[in-house]
Amino acid sequence: MLGIIGGSGLNDLANLEVTRREVVRTPYGEPSAPLLFGKLAGREVVFVARHGHGHTIPPHEVNFRANIWALQAQKVACVVSVASVGGIRADLSPGVLCVPDQILDYTYGRRHTFVSRDDGTVKHIDFTHPYCERLRQDLARAAQAAGEPLLMGGTYATTQGPRLETAAEINRLERDGADMVGMTGMPEAGLARELDVRYAALTVVANWGAGRASSTQGIEMNEINAVLKTAMARVRRILEQLVVQ
Ligand code: HPA
Repeated sequence: MLGIIGGSGLNDLANLEVTRREVVRTPYGEPSAPLLFGKLAGREVVFVARHGHGHTIPPHEVNFRANIWALQAQKVACVVSVASVGGIRADLSPGVLCVPDQILDYTYGRRHTFVSRDDGTVKHIDFTHPYCERLRQDLARAAQAAGEPLLMGGTYATTQGPRLETAAEINRLERDGADMVGMTGMPEAGLARELDVRYAALTVVANWGAGRASSTQGIEMNEINAVLKTAMARVRRILEQLVVQ
């Protein structure tokens, strides 16, 4: 069964036929929202709204451990994380969909691991390639089948938020090798790897990074919301193709 973590603008999957809602408790607390089980294009999927159903949980307060643990406990083998980002690379303009292949982590103070001294042994996961390559390629094929353009590859920088970046920070991120910036890529991807859950991100560029192009004077939340609204319909079409593959 496919797990989907929906971010800003994808708090509800409009084309998900919900069959069951389940409030799941985990050793790490409650997930952001009840898990929604349902059918997407006739196939079973489970969905969790990363920021809660009413979009009330800010990025730094998301219980990433509970979300990943809860999905894994439902025997979910693959998770697609849908997340909005700011574009830094020239071809990552608002409205573009992308499947990143690398991560930079600038977050702090988040509960970022399941590893604890109580486990007896210290585990160091391999994270050279942070996303599942097979799932990334499945997404590429799904987008092709859906007729939706999708950019493959890019480095997703995760900032702490909830504030957006300064123009200088975006310049620094670019020098660091970042192509896009969001606030939820980590620790989510690392936690999925710790539990051996195959995980890939489908990012939606909502705006230009601060100080760039249409964001030269600032970032307008209204514009972000308008971009996300249309892009998310395209995301849904890709996910439908992914589950029928
Ligand atoms: N910065 C960080 N996170 C984001 C952005 C951004 O510009 N846009 C959407 N999520």
